[in-house]
Amino acid sequence: MNHFLGKSFLKENDFSAAELNYLIDFAIHLKKLKKNHLPHQYLLGQNIALLFEKPSTRTRSAFTVAANDLGAHPEFLGKQDIQFGTKESVADTAAVLGGMFDGIEFRGFKQETVAKLAEKSGVPVWNGLTDEWHPTQMIADFMTLKESFGKLKGLTLTYIGDGRNNVANSLLVTGAILGVNIHIAAPKKLQPQAEIQKIAAKEAEKSGAQIKITDDLLAAVKNADALYTDVWISMGEKVDVGERIKLLLPFQINKKLLQQTGKAKTIIMHCLPALHDNHTVIGKKLTTQYQLAALEITDEVFNGPQSVVFQEAENRMHAIKAIMAATLGTLFIPDSIFA
Ligand code: CP
Ligand code: NVA
Repeated sequence: MNHFLGKSFLKENDFSAAELNYLIDFAIHLKKLKKNHLPHQYLLGQNIALLFEKPSTRTRSAFTVAANDLGAHPEFLGKQDIQFGTKESVADTAAVLGGMFDGIEFRGFKQETVAKLAEKSGVPVWNGLTDEWHPTQMIADFMTLKESFGKLKGLTLTYIGDGRNNVANSLLVTGAILGVNIHIAAPKKLQPQAEIQKIAAKEAEKSGAQIKITDDLLAAVKNADALYTDVWISMGEKVDVGERIKLLLPFQINKKLLQQTGKAKTIIMHCLPALHDNHTVIGKKLTTQYQLAALEITDEVFNGPQSVVFQEAENRMHAIKAIMAATLGTLFIPDSIFA
């Protein structure tokens, strides 16, 4: 019996705190197996489709390595390479892929696309990021928090920057489910949408998490166990770059801000990719859009002793492995654990 078998992983609030905690702990367990070179081929002989509308370094690599470690075969299907979205509908693509593959990862724009893939394919579908949510990132992030502090409940994570993007939405709702206090520091124009705040508030009522959404940066970082930021402009976003930078310049993570938490052990998190120095992006087009100071985090802090950003990136692989193994593997995960 496997409680997760056949389930898709589309957004965080489809899952309970017990279920998310299980996946986080399973990821920590799988990380130990990998480090000790112990086999964990739960998906031997299975085939995994990796469907990407947007680019990716971590998510693509994580799904590829995780599938291989689990004994499955991953197949990358870039949007440019297949008929999807031009000559063929989402529903037909889902039916075709579902007939050949055992599971499907999707990264792209609309949440409704990943939902449709899940509805029409008949196999587990995993959301590798949409404009709205980034759920596999959350298992890795909260796993990283647990590795750093040995617990989750009662911790405070402050997210700083664009409070309306996928990562901000996911952190807010996941923290609320798990009982991690979430503070969002963002200018008023970039604070989370009302409907996302509503979902988080409902979850926080159950878990006891405290939610604070404010443009008062100092109030938001006080007592934070983790400071988290993301790019100021997300993939595919069409915004006035100058205006966005102007709005977010006061919300950079730097050493001075880090000292304001009042805690010696505050960790620094970022889902990556990051702009943390003027060499991060090699490619004139993007760098010239940004002025010298227009970075969401300084290099000093990004590469400083309190940063866990690369541990977090590695954990994407362990987390995705846990999600794939749980939803496709013949494991003993009884329903009673979640009752
Ligand atoms: N954090 C993350 O999803 O990175 P990629 O865009 O490189 O996959
Ligand atoms: N908010 C970012 C996250 C990248 C992993 C984006 O959507 O581009």
